[in-house]
Amino acid sequence: MLYYFNGEIMPAEACFLSPEDRGFLFADGLYEVARAYDGLWFRMDNHLKRLSHGAVFMRFARTEFPEFAGVADSLLKVNGLTGQNAILYLEVTRGSAPRTHGFPPPTTPLTCMAWVKPFASKQHHARDGVPIITTPDIRWARCDVKTIGLTANVLAHQQAIDVGAVEAVFVRDGFVTEGSHTNVMAVMDGMVVTHPASHLILEGITRTAVLELCAQSGIPTRMSPMTLPEFQQSQEAFLTGTTGEITPITSINGVPVASGTPGPVTRRLQNIFRLLTCGR
Ligand code: PDD
Repeated sequence: MLYYFNGEIMPAEACFLSPEDRGFLFADGLYEVARAYDGLWFRMDNHLKRLSHGAVFMRFARTEFPEFAGVADSLLKVNGLTGQNAILYLEVTRGSAPRTHGFPPPTTPLTCMAWVKPFASKQHHARDGVPIITTPDIRWARCDVKTIGLTANVLAHQQAIDVGAVEAVFVRDGFVTEGSHTNVMAVMDGMVVTHPASHLILEGITRTAVLELCAQSGIPTRMSPMTLPEFQQSQEAFLTGTTGEITPITSINGVPVASGTPGPVTRRLQNIFRLLTCGR
C-alpha cells in the first residue's frame, strides 16, 4: 500500500520515522479514523474539525489540516480503491526534536501520516450484537481530545478480548462514559440516552450522526450520564463508532441486556444509518 508521509505519497517501507519523533517519545500527537462508503468520505469535515479542536488544545504550531481531505482521496486513487469501501487512519505529531518536555521551536515541522485500507464492518456483530464488559475509567480528564496516548484504551480493550467480549466500556465515578474506541447509548423509557459531550468522552462523529437521525425520526434523546445499574437495566444498548457503526450490545459483564437480542430502536437506527452511508 502507498502511504502519505510528510507531504509525499510513498510505499510504507519508505516511511522513516525519527526515533526523536515526539509521537514516539511522548505520545505527543493526534489521530483520526474515517470511513469511505463507495469512495465517498463520511463526514470528513467533522473529522478535520475534531482534529483542529485537538490541535488547538495541544498548542500545535499548526491547527488546521484541510489537506487531509485531498490526501484521503489521493490515497484511494493511488491504491486502486476509487469508489470502494475503505478506512482512513491519519496521524499528526508535534514533529521530531531532541527529547525535552517543552515544545520544540515552532518552525519544527509536524509529522503528518495517513493510510487507507479496504474496510467493511463486521456483519455478524451488527446482526447478532456483542457482549461487552465494564472497567474503571482510568484515563485522563481530556478524553474529548483524540490523542494517540491510548494506553488505558488498549488495556481496557484487551481486558474485553481476554474474556471473550468485544468492547470494554469505561465507568467513572459510577457513571458510564464511553467504550475503549466507541460511544455508548442505551434505550430507557423509549428514550435514547447517552453521556453528554464533555471533557469525559470523545464526541464521536457517529454519535452525532445517530443523534441527528433520532431527531429526524422522532426518537426522543436525553444527554445525561447513566449509572452502571441504569445501563444494565436498560431496554436496549448499543455502541456507536466509525469502525462498528451501530453495534447492538447483548450483554454487560455477562448479564443479558433485556432479552439479550438486538432491540427495535437499535434496529431502526441501524437501518436509517445505512441509508445515510449507502444512499448517497
Ligand atoms: N475510535 N470514543 C473513543 C474513545 C474513540 O476512540 C472513538 C473512535 C469513538 C467513536 O468516535 P467516531 O464515531 O468518531 O469514530 C468514541 C476510533 C475509530 C479508533 O480509535 O479506532
